[in-house]
Amino acid sequence: MTIQKNLSLKPYNTFGIDVSAAHFADVFSVEELKTILSDATFHKIPKLILGGGSNVLFTKNVDALVIHNQIKGIEIIKEDDDYVFIRSGAGEAWNDLVMYAVAHNYGGIENLSLIPGSVGAAPMQNIGAYGVELKETFVELEAIHIETAEQKTFVKEECKFGYRESIFKHEAKGKYIIISVTLQLNKNPVFNTSYGAIEQELQKMNAQPNIKNISEAVCNIRRGKLPDPAKIGNAGSFFKNPTVNQEKFEKLKSQYPTIPNYATGNSSTQQPNNPTSQQHKLPAGWLIEQCGWKGKRVGNTGSHKDQALVLVNYGNATGEEIIALAKQIQQSVKEKFEVDILPEVNVY
Ligand code: EPU
Repeated sequence: MTIQKNLSLKPYNTFGIDVSAAHFADVFSVEELKTILSDATFHKIPKLILGGGSNVLFTKNVDALVIHNQIKGIEIIKEDDDYVFIRSGAGEAWNDLVMYAVAHNYGGIENLSLIPGSVGAAPMQNIGAYGVELKETFVELEAIHIETAEQKTFVKEECKFGYRESIFKHEAKGKYIIISVTLQLNKNPVFNTSYGAIEQELQKMNAQPNIKNISEAVCNIRRGKLPDPAKIGNAGSFFKNPTVNQEKFEKLKSQYPTIPNYATGNSSTQQPNNPTSQQHKLPAGWLIEQCGWKGKRVGNTGSHKDQALVLVNYGNATGEEIIALAKQIQQSVKEKFEVDILPEVNVY
């Protein structure tokens, strides 16, 4: 295993930010990972785990050992007439796993087609798109504790999944390296085309809802409005969609009658029989667009022309420039709507 010194991380983050890592190692197996974690040279040095680098914004050089997780392999570990349990190495590209499932007609993750990043990063923020979240097919993951190099299995409940949330963004943050993820996929899938854009896209394609067509529809929708990180640096949605209570929502609705909103279904305080406790998720992209930021360029950065929620690097932006833009956008949204929008991307 080679440990590189002072390596530029530009090719390793989809924002394309040029910072350097003090030490950098590609890790291809659990054995290599355990070797490096128990190496006395690196014992006291902080570690940063990098997968696809698609949900991170670097604002400074990384004075740490960056471990680039490349542990691969997709295998069926169990199956019956209805389900197949698939374990994937954390270093697989998420979309390669989706394409494997689509090719074999295993249902459950087709709506999550084309999400950038690695399989190991998927549970960190419970990736979600077009009406589906990872947690719906997630069974368990295996992880290595960075300090002790011990292996631990986290079952679904232990991961504490929420909207773009998991234990790995909170109490377990920076403590574990995910090495594999196991999903339960369906051989007799129930399709989820409830997200309006999918139905429309299927009609445009003149196609029936099935695993392959839904995947293709999602790819078409994403390609239509999300910038390709290979061409223009970005990390997908920069902010999470905020949640407001019924009272706040009614106030906003009276001021802005066209305001879009989703039923949340994931507020711990939500009581379905009590309308006053209803929570409403608002699309941050809409709020940002209403403040005039959509398509606006500020120096090397900006809010994307087709999806205001995505902040982009037009070339040589620094992490600080992107953070400065994010702060201005947060302030505008706060002033206009009295709503806080919080970053979804991990800022380092
Ligand atoms: N909208 C605007 N202006 C914009 C963007 C969106 O008015 O510039 C409005 C749309 O018209 C629509 C609503 O906002 O009424 C929702 O837009 P969209 O369907 O694009 O979804 P989103 O809520 O903005 C979320 C996820 C995306 C995911 C899509 C589709 C978050 C933070 N983002 O975006 O995830 O692809 O739904 O399910 O939840 C990501 O996490 O990186 C990501 C791209």
